[in-house]
Amino acid sequence: MKKNEERVGIVSALGVNGEGIIKEEDAVVFVPFALVGEKVKYKVLKVAKKCVYAKLIEVLTPAENRVRAKCPVFEKCGGCQLQHIKYVQQLKLKESGIESTFKKIANLSVKVKPTIKGDDHYRYRNKLQLPVVQTDIGVIIGFYAENSHRVVAIDDCYINASWTKNIISAFKRYMAEFNVKGYNEFTNSGDIREITVKEIKGNLIITVVALHDKLPEKDRLIDILTDELKIRFSLYLNVNDKNTNVIYGDKFFLLYGAPNYTADMLGIKYKIGVQSFMQVNTAVCAKLYGAVRDAVDADEDTVVIDAYSGAGLMTALLSKNAKKAIGVEIVPEAVECANELAELNGLSGKITNYLGKCEDIVPDLIKKEREQGNKVCLVLDPPRKGCDTKVINAILDSDIDKIVYVSCKPSTLARDIGLLVGTLELSEGEIKRAENPTFRYDVTTVRPFDMFAQTKHVETLVCLERKTN
Ligand SMILES: C[S@@+](CC[C@H](N)C(=O)[O-])C[C@H]1O[C@@H](n2cnc3c(N)ncnc32)[C@H](O)[C@@H]1O
Repeated sequence: MKKNEERVGIVSALGVNGEGIIKEEDAVVFVPFALVGEKVKYKVLKVAKKCVYAKLIEVLTPAENRVRAKCPVFEKCGGCQLQHIKYVQQLKLKESGIESTFKKIANLSVKVKPTIKGDDHYRYRNKLQLPVVQTDIGVIIGFYAENSHRVVAIDDCYINASWTKNIISAFKRYMAEFNVKGYNEFTNSGDIREITVKEIKGNLIITVVALHDKLPEKDRLIDILTDELKIRFSLYLNVNDKNTNVIYGDKFFLLYGAPNYTADMLGIKYKIGVQSFMQVNTAVCAKLYGAVRDAVDADEDTVVIDAYSGAGLMTALLSKNAKKAIGVEIVPEAVECANELAELNGLSGKITNYLGKCEDIVPDLIKKEREQGNKVCLVLDPPRKGCDTKVINAILDSDIDKIVYVSCKPSTLARDIGLLVGTLELSEGEIKRAENPTFRYDVTTVRPFDMFAQTKHVETLVCLERKTN
C-alpha cells in the first residue's frame, strides 16, 4: 500500500475511537468516520509498520446505523467523533469498548450494565472554550482540529448549550466593530486569545483571555453581549501574555456582573466561580454522583475516603449518611472551595479535606482509620492517567471491603482494577498478567455514564467488593 493511493474496502470492525477498521491482506487500515459493514472508498495518508491510516473519501454502501451528522464541521473539528452513528449504537459501541478493554488490558471478563444517559444527547454541555486566532483572512473563533493547533471556524456547537451561537456572534460583532485582533501564536501578539464560558443554573460566567489588562470599549462588549444573550451573565478579563498552551494567566478582573453563582445538586449547595472546576454535563453528573452515593451505601460506622476529590461536591454528598468523609485533592483552590462548600451546607463537622497528593496521604489515612476500628469505603476518581501505584499498593496492604472507582479513561481504569482484583500484578516496576490470579475483589458493577454524547469519551463507575472468604 502506498501513500495517496485510493482504494475500496469493507469495514469489519470499529476501533475504540469509533474509527472503521478494514483488514487488507498486508495491513490493518484505520478509516475514521466509516462504519461496520460499509463499503467505502478511502485514501491512504500514512503507512506505518503495523497499520495504515486513511481518510474516508466516499461511502459506497452506507450502514443502517449511519445518520447525517448535525454539525457542518463534524470531521473537521476535533470535538466529536461519533455524530454519524445512531445514538443507541454509540452507547453499544462504548459498552462493548469497555468490555473489550477490560479483557485486553486486565484479562478480566466483566459484564457491562446498560449506560446511564442524559435527557439530551445534543446541547448538553455547560462549558465552552473557544480559541480566537488572527489569520490572513481575519479573526477566527472556533475549535482546534483533532491532534492539531489549527482552529476550525464555527458559528455554533450542537453539543454545547444554545447560547454558544450568541456568544460567537457577539464577539464577532464586537471584534469587527472595534478592530480587536485575535491571537497570533507565532509573534505572541494580538488582543484576545481565548473566550471561555460556564453556565451555572442559567447564569453565564464569560471570561475573555487577553494579552493586555484593558479591553477596548469594554462597555460596548457588555452591551452587545446583553443584546445577544438575553440571560444573566458575568464578564471577567484574564490576562495571559505568555507564549504558552496554558489558557489562563494569574490575574482575573471582574468587569461586569456577580463574581460567582450558587447552584445545588442532590441537596448539596455549591458555588461556582471563575476558576472552579465543573463537570461538563450537569444532568449526567447528578446521576453519576447519585450512583456513587448508592454504591457507597454508607452507614453511621463508615468513614468514606474520597480520593481525588476536586471541589468537594461528592465528598459532601457522601458525608451525609456516613460517620465522616475525607477528601484528598492536589489543587489548593479546589480544597478551599471544598471547605467553603462543607461550611455552606453545615457539614464542616463531618468533613475533612486534605491538600496534597493521594499517593502521599491516602496510604496513611487508610491505615489510621482501620486502626481506629472504622469501616472504610474508598472512592477513587483520578485524572485520566489513573491511580498512582502507591495508592494501589496501600489498598492491597489493607482490608478495605468496598471500593468505588469513577474513571473517564477505560484503559487506565482496567489496569487499576486488574491490579486490585489480582489478574494483574506489579513486579519490578512492570505490570504483568498474574499467573495465578487472586481474585481478591468481586467486580459487582461496571456501569457507563454517557457524560460526553457524540464523542468517543465515556465515564465509567466500577464497584469492587472484597470476597468474604
Ligand atoms: C477527574 S477529577 C475528579 C474531581 C471530583 N471527584 C469531581 O467529581 O469533580 C480528578 C481530580 O484529581 C485531582 N488530582 C490529580 N492528581 C492528583 C493527585 N496526585 N493527588 C490528589 N489529587 C489529584 C485533580 O486536580 C482533579 O480535581
